[in-house]
Amino acid sequence: MPDRKIGIVGTGYVGLVTAAAFASRGLQIVCHDIDPARIASLRAGVLPFFEPALAETLAAARGTVDYTTDHERLYRRTGVVFVCVDTPPSGDGSADLSRVGTVIEAIPRWASPLVVMKSTVPVGTGRRIEALLANLDRADIAYISNPEFLREGSAIADVTHPDRIVIGGTDPTAIERVAALYETELAPIVRTDVTSAEMIKYASNAFLATKISFINEIANLCDAVGAGIDTVAAGMGLDHRIGPNFLHAGIGYGGSCFAKDISALQHTAASHGTALHVVTATQQANAHQAGRVIEKLAAHLGTLDGARIALLGLSFKADTTDARNSVGVHLADLLAQAGARLVCYDPLVRPEDIAGMPSCTSAATLADAIFGTDGAVIATEWPQYHDLLAPALSASMRTPLIIDGRNLLDPTAAAAAGYTYEGIGRSGTPAGNRIVESTGWLRAAA
Ligand code: UGA
Repeated sequence: MPDRKIGIVGTGYVGLVTAAAFASRGLQIVCHDIDPARIASLRAGVLPFFEPALAETLAAARGTVDYTTDHERLYRRTGVVFVCVDTPPSGDGSADLSRVGTVIEAIPRWASPLVVMKSTVPVGTGRRIEALLANLDRADIAYISNPEFLREGSAIADVTHPDRIVIGGTDPTAIERVAALYETELAPIVRTDVTSAEMIKYASNAFLATKISFINEIANLCDAVGAGIDTVAAGMGLDHRIGPNFLHAGIGYGGSCFAKDISALQHTAASHGTALHVVTATQQANAHQAGRVIEKLAAHLGTLDGARIALLGLSFKADTTDARNSVGVHLADLLAQAGARLVCYDPLVRPEDIAGMPSCTSAATLADAIFGTDGAVIATEWPQYHDLLAPALSASMRTPLIIDGRNLLDPTAAAAAGYTYEGIGRSGTPAGNRIVESTGWLRAAA
């Protein structure tokens, strides 16, 4: 009989989205968290963060999802338990696994759950957990690595339409029990060992980050030689060996995953005496990329000292309230250090809610943010910033200058709206790019 009752430990992004996805397929879910306030608000239908479609999906599954702080209840009611607790970075770049360890040690003596690790844990962790279980004389507990690939902002779509499902384990029965929980017709299932499953997760994130840093450096070169990055990326992406995704140039990647996971991967490599030169270069390129905005502003304004700059975007990407490791926040620091006076506007994140944010004026609207400024910087690709193109908005700025750090706006439309416009890697194409005609021509020729 396939399992119908699933336990989820940890009610962060991964835990709640996993719960919502399984619940929407009719499975019974028990979500556990150590935070009583969080569990109380989840019971009241209030989510601890914003994620598109998550509240609706959980609300539709009301009655099939139970929230508790009680371990015994969790293990009494479920036989498969997904570990979804966070693994924050430690001081030395390695992942802090204390929460994972606490979860394993808290499994009651009388319970023999199938433990499925969804948290991103460093390569080698599964083996250590299996050794810990053996030491505790708990060979009755099977362990599976089942990494998650969802993105914030599109998490529900990502888990309901995955590219692949990775299941790593030593016990074939346990692997098949986990496989049976997924709609296997939706995506290929990679059945493998625990360590390879862990590596797939880290290598995927490191590769995606590398794609971003690569295209960002090519964009910088496009600026220098007068090429257009949009057409260059589209032209590259048509090669099926390269693919079109994650070639969107900008001011770098942020968020809680890429930087943390890359550091943890490097820590693993270093502890095994292996060098990851490409991954190191990816990090270095990303660390420099936000500085492009400062260079571009200075090229137009001469000095930033005393300049009034609108910073548009504090979340690390659109459709999330998450500002952890956000490039927008990093940029606020750089701008403040250069002497700029900041006016910040983000549709969902208020600067006063961000710890360590430099002093700035918080604007209530986009129009308020840019009014009287010497330049506006787009740091997050919020679609709302297309409103910058509304007639007369540019005239409210002291200097109608936009530095588009996410290549969000159409350069031609921005120029027509009265702005001096610069994207990243678009300097050579003031009239925009010709992706549509180019791809049409290529498709016709194919
Ligand atoms: C990332 C991965 O994409 C997920 O597959 C993975 O599950 C997740 O990390 C994780 O390990 O938990 P996430 O950090 O939520 O997901 O967001 P992404 O959409 O990957 O964006 C990360 C950053 O890269 C953002 O700052 C975004 O603006 C930037 N980015 C993304 C670019 O600059 N260019 C691109 O072409 C794509």
